[in-house]
Amino acid sequence: NHDIYVLGIETSCDETAAAVVKNGTEILSNIVASQMESHKRFGGVVPEIASRHHVEQITFVIEEAMNQAGVSFQQLSAIAVTQGPGLVGALLIGVNAAKALAFAYGLPLVAVHHIAGHIYANRLVADMKFPLLSLVVSGGHTELVYMEEHGKFQVIGETRDDAAGEAYDKVARALNLPYPGGPHIDRLAHEGKVTIDLPRAWLEEGSYDFSFSGLKSAVLNTLHNAKQRGEHIDPKDMAASFQASVIDVLVTKTVNAAKEYNVRQVLLAGGVAANRGLRAELERKMAELNGIELVIPPLSLCTDNAAMIAAAGTVLFEQGKRADMALNADPSLEL
Ligand code: KG4
Ligand code: ZN
Repeated sequence: NHDIYVLGIETSCDETAAAVVKNGTEILSNIVASQMESHKRFGGVVPEIASRHHVEQITFVIEEAMNQAGVSFQQLSAIAVTQGPGLVGALLIGVNAAKALAFAYGLPLVAVHHIAGHIYANRLVADMKFPLLSLVVSGGHTELVYMEEHGKFQVIGETRDDAAGEAYDKVARALNLPYPGGPHIDRLAHEGKVTIDLPRAWLEEGSYDFSFSGLKSAVLNTLHNAKQRGEHIDPKDMAASFQASVIDVLVTKTVNAAKEYNVRQVLLAGGVAANRGLRAELERKMAELNGIELVIPPLSLCTDNAAMIAAAGTVLFEQGKRADMALNADPSLEL
């Protein structure tokens, strides 16, 4: 029997997740215990609270993933775990659980980069065709990653300040919307009109880097100035204007890079990939570039999950990559 079963474990932020994936493409189980409610009243993820929740949840989440998959530990080919980047105290819970299980059952251990996981979520819904380009947009990351082959990642652009999701969350906060703000802005944006002139950070000619802090400041200043003057700004219009600026830059740079690097596929990844406006605009612009396939995973695979870690881990496992009992969490791991 040459089937490969990999247990994936993900605890880099505020989701305790475990999943079993068969042959790198077929999800047998995908359990996510979200802590969102516990962090909401603080307006963001509180690291200490995240770690404690992971400790409480990890055993149950792994047990549930194994039960639902109907796979025993003896049948597993490997255990894949997110090594970083993320919150160190949160990462450590997953890394130590994975090490304990790998040691107890004599299983190979594979360390996975969180962003590699987000990219490989796409392999759960489509064949990856190289060379490809992936736009990774989440609460912690905004990156354009070029891939020539499996397991080889080249970051061709990244944010110089705030991540796209971070900008969404900060602007949402200024509009008194609950955390995480991305989905709320997305919803409001669809009801509003693009009436407020906001900047777009294109940076140097030909650069695929991003910057969102100027846009965020422009939103905060506009709201502040309006308040001082006693003027009313419709939050819907602010949401629509902000979202238009973010999407314009993300989509334009992605399409330009796809052309320059002559890719066969563009993959969308990360929590912000849930954004309806971004999905629609990327679909529209990619349709004009006939020949390049666009893959957008379903929402449940865009936000943090462990199936994506198992999917990436399977590829690394097949390439012979192994971690050992010295594996440590790395909060600023490079792709
Ligand atoms: O990938 P993810 O679940 O966690 C990280 O690794 O960061 O991404 C979470 C981020 C949050 O900033 C959240 O506001 C954003 O994704 N997000 C959205 C939407 N849904 C989630 N941003 C814009 N529009 C959405 N619909
Ligand atoms: Zn993530």
